[in-house]
Amino acid sequence: MKKGKKLYEGKAKIIYATNDKGLVIQYFKDDATAFNNQKKSVIEGKGVLNNRISEHILSNLSQIGIKNHLVKRLNMREQVIKLVEIIPIEFIVRNVASGSITKRLGIEDGTVLKEPLIEYCLKDDKLGDPLIAEEHILAFEWATKKEVEKVKKMILRINDFMIGMFRGVGIKLIDFKLEFGRLKINGKDEVILADEISPDTCRLWDSITDKKLDKDRFRKNLGDLIPAYTEVAKRLGILHEQSNVSAVNVTKLSSVKRKRK
Ligand code: TMP
Repeated sequence: MKKGKKLYEGKAKIIYATNDKGLVIQYFKDDATAFNNQKKSVIEGKGVLNNRISEHILSNLSQIGIKNHLVKRLNMREQVIKLVEIIPIEFIVRNVASGSITKRLGIEDGTVLKEPLIEYCLKDDKLGDPLIAEEHILAFEWATKKEVEKVKKMILRINDFMIGMFRGVGIKLIDFKLEFGRLKINGKDEVILADEISPDTCRLWDSITDKKLDKDRFRKNLGDLIPAYTEVAKRLGILHEQSNVSAVNVTKLSSVKRKRK
């Protein structure tokens, strides 16, 4: 497969064309942003970890029948994915209140929700990804009723699976963000899971200590983001304990790669 020109650059990833019309390459950058790009930094090794963690989660989801865009991981920072038309909505799933909902509604951080709560945000950086209602999605035809219903069913299955997967390794899945895309499969319109699932897009707390193992370490200036993401990868069995792939090694590996280019 040949890598073609850059098609799109987002805050944390770049999409490149390939010689196959239906496939693109997704490159994970080390850039970290928060609060709609107001806070920015480069955290060396983050892209490498997110590439591996997202690959692991999406391939596990595939095995339980959740169709998604991942074809295969190519290398440390890149994966081949199916080209989809992204639905311009960020689907936020909350099991425990934290982050924006605590400020917006005055709910205490850490409040366990009785049922998973799905929120919708319009994907529009200029507007600051505003919270919208399901009715807005239908009124402005960002997605059809059928698509929304299908996505909601997928979200609940993804949430169940991910809660269990993380619980098994001593991590609480507080909340996360998903994106979906449209694709024609055998002439039929389908909606599949897209983007990434990683500590950049989830809140993950250690089950016993509530230590944050996600991008809140960057948002809240807690430091040690790479050790936290490495911990998540190790617990998921992606990085082996004995291989001692420490933050330093991940960083070294990724900078060596970059110098070679
Ligand atoms: P929030 O509390 O800031 O609304 O975020 C909820 C979850 O969604 C949290 O796990 C972080 C994730 N998220 C993203 O992945 N991208 C975004 O642009 C936002 C706003 C949140």
